[in-house]
Amino acid sequence: MRVLSGIQPTGRFHWGNYFGAIRQYIDLQGDRTKAFYFIANLHALTTIRDRDALMRYTLDAAMDLLALGLDPEKATLFVQSDVPEVSELCWLLMTGTPMGLLERCVAYKDKKAKGLSADAGLFTYPVLMAADILAYDSEIVPVGEDQIQHIEVCRDLAASFNHEFGQTFVLPKAKILDRSARVPGTDGEKMSKSYNNTLAVFEEPAVLRKQIMRIVTDSRPMEQPKDPESDHLFQLYSLFASDSQREEMAALYRRGGFGYGEVKKALAELAIEFFAPARERRKELEAQPRRVREILGDGAATARTKASAVLRRAQDACGARLPEIC
Ligand code: ADP
Ligand code: TRP
Repeated sequence: MRVLSGIQPTGRFHWGNYFGAIRQYIDLQGDRTKAFYFIANLHALTTIRDRDALMRYTLDAAMDLLALGLDPEKATLFVQSDVPEVSELCWLLMTGTPMGLLERCVAYKDKKAKGLSADAGLFTYPVLMAADILAYDSEIVPVGEDQIQHIEVCRDLAASFNHEFGQTFVLPKAKILDRSARVPGTDGEKMSKSYNNTLAVFEEPAVLRKQIMRIVTDSRPMEQPKDPESDHLFQLYSLFASDSQREEMAALYRRGGFGYGEVKKALAELAIEFFAPARERRKELEAQPRRVREILGDGAATARTKASAVLRRAQDACGARLPEIC
């Protein structure tokens, strides 16, 4: 069973990315030939138009994933653009993609609705994503809920290609990442780069403490009992707390008579401790850039072997490759 997912290198990873996606990718790894994870730098190019930033974020993403526990013995990690076969496959798929299908996709639709001009990269984003998935005969694609529409597009494109040219592609299934892992940001809304409310996984402890102290809370008096479940500070605390710590904190909320400052201090200490081993590994990796490049190179080689076989299969099916003369 091939598991595959991609993550865009659009900035430093935040707690939402970790608990909502990365941690679950790591839980699903196990066999190098079966779990494929890549850094979607070609997709990021639809938003990042700064050469140095894109390169830095791509390498940062690789180091972050490795530091957080992605194990190159148990999963294949590579950079999307290191597998050019995917872009070729994208073209083959594009020739059979109805415009209407892409016009209905939300990322493009939202941008249009806001009156912003969209480019062909954003418009055809779902086709490249379909090529990413189909190039490796992927069966399971772990993604957040916002990506379900793209998996549906991928299945549609694969099914219609198979219908036109005969069985070529494996139809993938989405595995929706744990919904309870919707991490709130410092303002209580969903944590997201676009909302400027993130707490970064590899933030310096001193900076993180300050950011946590600035988390927005309500102004109810200290004495008033509070419902822990509806409080975003408590939700953040729960990400890191053991069951007993969580219970104790919930009891404090219900009893009242405490300040949010205490919760923030406890949260900062737990979070700093939780990510400490990853921070250490991150520092070690930074000191070994060659090792990181080697891991990505090996990953790309493994991925290319698979992708070129699938590309050949697709080219043969649609007549885009002349048969060899013996
Ligand atoms: P952002 O919203 O910061 O731009 P992305 O859209 O790049 O983040 O998300 C990358 C991955 O992290 C996706 O799989 C997404 O579902 C997950 N993710 C992002 N923010 C959160 C969050 N607040 N809670 C849970 N998962 C999240
Ligand atoms: N579009 C995905 C996101 O923004 C990233 C991605 C690109 C992806 N290609 C993929 C995810 C293929 C799963 C499979 O999160």
